[in-house]
Amino acid sequence: MCGIVGIVGLQPVSERLVDALKRLEYRGYDSAGVATITEGALHRRRAEGKLVNLEKRLKDEPLSGTIGIGHTRWATHGASTERNAHPHFTDGVAVVHNGIIENFAELKDELTAAGAKFQTDTDTEVVSHLLARHRREGMTRQEAMRAMLKRVKGAYALAILFEDDPSTIMAARNGPPLAIGHGDSEMFLGSDAIALAPFTNEITYLIDGDWAVISNTGAHIFDFDGDPVERARQTSIAAAYLVNKGNHRHFMEKEIYEQPDVIAQALGHYINIIDNHADTVSSIDFARIPSLAISACGTAYLAGSIGKHWFERYARLPVEIDVASEFRYREIPLSPQSAALFISQSGETADTLASLRYCKELGLKIGAVVNAGESTIAREADAVFPILAGPEIGVASTKAFTCQLAVLAALAIGAARARGTVTEDEVQALVRSLAEMPRIMGQVLNSIQPEIELLSRELSKFHNVLYLGRGTSVPLAMEGALKLKEISYIHAEGYAAGELKHGPIALVDENMPVIVIAPHDRFFDKTVSNMQEVAARGGRIILITDETGAAASKLDTMHTIVLPAVDEIIAPMIFSLPIQLLAYHTALFMGTDVDQPRNLAKSVTVE
Ligand code: AGP
Repeated sequence: MCGIVGIVGLQPVSERLVDALKRLEYRGYDSAGVATITEGALHRRRAEGKLVNLEKRLKDEPLSGTIGIGHTRWATHGASTERNAHPHFTDGVAVVHNGIIENFAELKDELTAAGAKFQTDTDTEVVSHLLARHRREGMTRQEAMRAMLKRVKGAYALAILFEDDPSTIMAARNGPPLAIGHGDSEMFLGSDAIALAPFTNEITYLIDGDWAVISNTGAHIFDFDGDPVERARQTSIAAAYLVNKGNHRHFMEKEIYEQPDVIAQALGHYINIIDNHADTVSSIDFARIPSLAISACGTAYLAGSIGKHWFERYARLPVEIDVASEFRYREIPLSPQSAALFISQSGETADTLASLRYCKELGLKIGAVVNAGESTIAREADAVFPILAGPEIGVASTKAFTCQLAVLAALAIGAARARGTVTEDEVQALVRSLAEMPRIMGQVLNSIQPEIELLSRELSKFHNVLYLGRGTSVPLAMEGALKLKEISYIHAEGYAAGELKHGPIALVDENMPVIVIAPHDRFFDKTVSNMQEVAARGGRIILITDETGAAASKLDTMHTIVLPAVDEIIAPMIFSLPIQLLAYHTALFMGTDVDQPRNLAKSVTVE
């Protein structure tokens, strides 16, 4: 996902623009650039790759000016080259953009036919050409903005400079977030409050359809029709998010080891452990809804898939779940009396937001299980369930996943209690299990790293890996596969263990390690049979089980990771730890960019 920053003030801006872009690096990018207006002219510096390359370019060719915009690009249209890096310039107009202009091809044809000469392969460049054309037609800058916004279709967060006006930045938002920061004789613009945190914590979020004229003394905000509007000015907590890696090599490693603490914090928000009751803070009436829909993407979707097991098993609540990019196109027969949960670490994922809006249109009560409390998904939900994981910077989600699971478990227990499908004794037993989680996670994290490192060295020699599980370990197997492939680039698939014989077993030989996630639960014996099928074909098994399972399994495995025996409801969170560490250490051996894997963004704000 791209990052946008802007500063208009009385001091030089280029270094601060790059510093702000560094706080957006976690979003993932492949090129960057800045532009300023100085001595009545637009100037820019751009570079492929990481921000260090842009910094070198600025060191060699400094940029002056007290007004400027900056951008980190996650390529959607056009290769990640300097030529396609933002800001884009056209006849005195500079533009940076996050999102996708969906009708760019038609606009490009129209502009080209009228003589426009395009310099890049991007969709964004149609914005600068439209603005330049409207200015040539004699429109004022504000008229040109309104005219351009009426032509472009799709998702955009835009920051714009007009060469003939060195005192204002123009901004517009439709989809990807955009925040205005209020300073002392200077104003800021950023894709999120984290980018602006060192400058200010006084933030105004634009909403979809808004555009703004920002000078160093303030911002005038207009709605899509050009009418002036007021937007709430709030104090952001983002300053607390100015995190560093501490003594860890990567944010991902730090976030894996933060899990006992953040899980404890999340549980404390939902469960009154002292009274052993799951007093979930929920404004969704779980007692009355006939069913629950869940939609999310990636790891968040897999957390929801585990949550489905719990809502159905404990609360007897039917759950309809799908990945957000498919959910709203299936036209699922959802009752307006139902509720829908949207799970999202960033709270900005475009597919998930689109599914939320689809369910809102249908009249469902909307719940959001999010990490970013100031996000668009949080703001558009009826009920927000914060996961309190703290900032998750590593692109590969770890602590957010287990915190999502903890919150979903608490909500499922609360729903079961509200629906009278469990006894008070059962509630208290479940709550006690949840309450044990932070301690057990700490115990596991303090013990398994050495064996994981040895195993990861072996795993890094393979090109394909299979993960198997049953019950809630099926989504966990898929999560293990996702973790491995997204940071080590080794191909991996997660499967229901029972499905192995229906096809995937054709893949099994000595070159295909099979990682089996198997706590000693009601599925264990059947999973042992699946492992025997693998062993019989020369497959190499890595078994992740508990003490009881290790004693029961007589199999000759490549390695067996033994975890503490835990209650079924917390097994997914505990068994997440070895699969996260396995992916992390394998990626270390592969030498990949663990925190910012190639091609990935931390939050995907395009559909
Ligand atoms: C997980 O490791 C990935 N980074 C990705 O699948 C992520 O979970 C997905 O893009 C959803 O993001 P969200 O939780 O911010 O909506």
